Amino acid sequence: MTDDLLGRHRSVLPDWLALYYEQPLEITHGEGRHVWDAEGNRYLDFFGGILTTMTAHALPEITKAVSDQAARIVHSSTLYLNRPMVELAERIAKLSGIPDARVFFTTSGTEANDTALLLATTYRRSNTVLAMRNSYHGRSFSSVGITGNRGWSPTSLSPLQTLYVHGGVRTRGPFAELDDYDFAAACVDDLKDLLGHTRPPAALIAEPIQGVGGFTSPPDGLYAAFREVLHERGILWIADEVQTGWGRTGEHFWGWQAHGRSGPPDMLTFAKGIGNGMSIGGVVARSEIMNCLDANSISTFGGTQITMAAGLANLTYLLEHDLQGNARRVGGLLIERLRAAAAQVPAVREVRGRGLMIGIELTRPGTDEADPEAASAVLEAAREGGLLIGKGGGHDTSALRVAPPLSLNVAEAEEGADILEQALRSIR
Ligand SMILES: Cc1ncc(COP(=O)(O)O)c(C=O)c1O
Repeated sequence: MTDDLLGRHRSVLPDWLALYYEQPLEITHGEGRHVWDAEGNRYLDFFGGILTTMTAHALPEITKAVSDQAARIVHSSTLYLNRPMVELAERIAKLSGIPDARVFFTTSGTEANDTALLLATTYRRSNTVLAMRNSYHGRSFSSVGITGNRGWSPTSLSPLQTLYVHGGVRTRGPFAELDDYDFAAACVDDLKDLLGHTRPPAALIAEPIQGVGGFTSPPDGLYAAFREVLHERGILWIADEVQTGWGRTGEHFWGWQAHGRSGPPDMLTFAKGIGNGMSIGGVVARSEIMNCLDANSISTFGGTQITMAAGLANLTYLLEHDLQGNARRVGGLLIERLRAAAAQVPAVREVRGRGLMIGIELTRPGTDEADPEAASAVLEAAREGGLLIGKGGGHDTSALRVAPPLSLNVAEAEEGADILEQALRSIR
């Protein structure tokens, strides 16, 4: 029984492990873009377990690859040669756009960013890091220290000195009223000014589209402009692609490519959807950066054969079925539908995003004040209508997050948009 499970959950798991919904859901199985709860209700899944079910639920091609691999060997550790790990590393290195790339696999996005920070601070001999306001990079002691989102910062203790840069949120903050060109110029000036006041930083870490922050982003090209300033000073650029990786933004395979004018990042990190639900994270870096450590380092569960089999099957499916193109086409239609629906709802401040990564920010009508209660009400109403979505936003969790599996079809996008429209209208 779900109720009993809820009681047991509450007695044995931490209080800070938040559950969605007044009556939390137990999801028992899924297929394609749908999931079912323990009571047999079916939902369209527009959040994919926080963007981890990137391709589809129970996709036969991936299920078969995982079960075939499980029947052979699940894990042998990185002490032995691991064919699926080498194969996936080769493919990711090539796709990354980073020259002379090396790949290190971890078990999560947090551990991937932790590794990137270890590499950057060692390579540059600096523990100063630049991060974006409204960012989220994970839950470890080091990644919490570079998270610019109060709601996800349980401590201010940190091994790093972090300075937060402007630009990750286009429509809030001191430069919001400027046009794109002047906004970018103001952010670059601010970065230069900041660099004049600090010891030389190791790196700037940034999500091309901020995930937990509510799918906010700068104008295209801002990180390219930042990169020019950083590179003149030898400072590294780390693109956190944990949410944007592998085509979700529709226009690009990686989010950094919207800022690619001056070349690829020095490092990128990935996780979430790469294994379509299996826990894969990792870092790609130029070899001189990856190889700068002078002691052993290992992730016991990083790159296990079973997760790599899922990653390889997922990548193959994604490329063969052009799911990036699908994200662009179906995501374009979905955002237009949601914009049209939102125009009738005064509580919607903004509908933003690209591809299948769409944020809807809610404010108290007539003000610019965040309305987290409205966001929760829409989340509940969407569930009532048979649609699962997410929430986010540094601005008091007042943004809805829409991020379906990339195989979403037009009929499902239309159905989801109808349900969300009704849910938004219910809070008018
Ligand atoms: C951009 C970004 N980086 C890192 C992380 C941390 O990943 P994980 O939860 O797999 O440790 C997240 C998780 O939401 C994320 O959105």
